Amino acid sequence: MGYSNVYGIPGLATIRPAAQLLDGRVAASELKAQVAVEIEQRAAAGERVPALATILVGDDPASHTYVSAKRRACTEVGIRSVHHSLPADSTLEKVASLITSLNADEEVTGILLQLPLPAHLDTRLLLDLIDPAKDVDGLTTTSGGRLAQGTPGFVPCTPKGVLALLEHYDVDFAGRRAVVVGRSELVGRPLATLLSQRDATVTLCHSRTRDLAAECRNAELLIVAAGRERLVSERHVAPGAIVVDVGIHRTAAGLVGDVDHAAIRHRVAALTPVPGGVGPMTIASLLENALAAVRTNPLAPPL
Ligand SMILES: NC(=O)c1ccc[n+]([C@@H]2O[C@H](COP(=O)([O-])OP(=O)(O)OC[C@H]3O[C@@H](n4cnc5c(N)ncnc54)[C@H](OP(=O)(O)O)[C@@H]3O)[C@@H](O)[C@H]2O)c1
Repeated sequence: MGYSNVYGIPGLATIRPAAQLLDGRVAASELKAQVAVEIEQRAAAGERVPALATILVGDDPASHTYVSAKRRACTEVGIRSVHHSLPADSTLEKVASLITSLNADEEVTGILLQLPLPAHLDTRLLLDLIDPAKDVDGLTTTSGGRLAQGTPGFVPCTPKGVLALLEHYDVDFAGRRAVVVGRSELVGRPLATLLSQRDATVTLCHSRTRDLAAECRNAELLIVAAGRERLVSERHVAPGAIVVDVGIHRTAAGLVGDVDHAAIRHRVAALTPVPGGVGPMTIASLLENALAAVRTNPLAPPL
């Protein structure tokens, strides 16, 4: 339909162009290299270098994998990382007291509380114990408020990484119809805010959206963070759309996203792969936030 074969030779099978892959590994390695250079320069000048404390409560295998990947990335760029592993049945008081002691520790410049926490722990309460100057995950109420107000502060790593990936590929946001599927505090909601601040016209969809496919088909830029395996398929995308798949699902066939890539890749202009799309950008953004924490005067709002 409307496609010709690449050679223009009659009779040769029609080749439908596949979407451009928005490669997060390439973009992330550039960002990581920039972070590494600045840290090296700081170290050479005798300035503070970042030290990230990670906290993992319980033994969720996926969380273990994520924390290990984050710590490995820290080491690669010269960020010191100190890990705290607590048993799954840790009390609120125990986790709170660890956070409080890390807040007071001058050697620690960033604190990451790996989510999700075991169900008996109050996630919001614990996140809000983190000193906003060390909130490199951008998940405290203070950081959320700053983001909503459009004032400088730490931006959550996945939304920050999505924007950085799109910017790496020179996607402009102004005036674009952007649809975000998912309104979590971790991904969808901050993404909608960031896109709106960059002058996109944003629709934020969720599980009560009446006609998801129709909303998505209206998107020039479609970002899917619903946590539902292959939720988005051909009937959800307009020809030529740019699609970002934030979802990650471990299946027997390997990692898959919230988007059915095989169904849409000949229809859209550009698409993030899973794996190798948003995941590496999330980690690169954490490194950038960790670096920003040492650039910042702790008495002033973080940049
Ligand atoms: N690549 C990365 O680095 C990275 C980082 C973070 C998360 N993730 C992945 O991204 C996905 C989303 O994560 P999350 O933490 O934002 O998930 P979440 O907290 O479970 O939120 C999911 C959101 O999607 C909405 N939703 C669920 N089913 C829907 C449906 N059928 N139609 C429309 N909306 C629907 C929910 O709506 P309601 O609000 O109405 O319930 C909710 O707002 C997950 O697969 C997660 O693993 C990836």
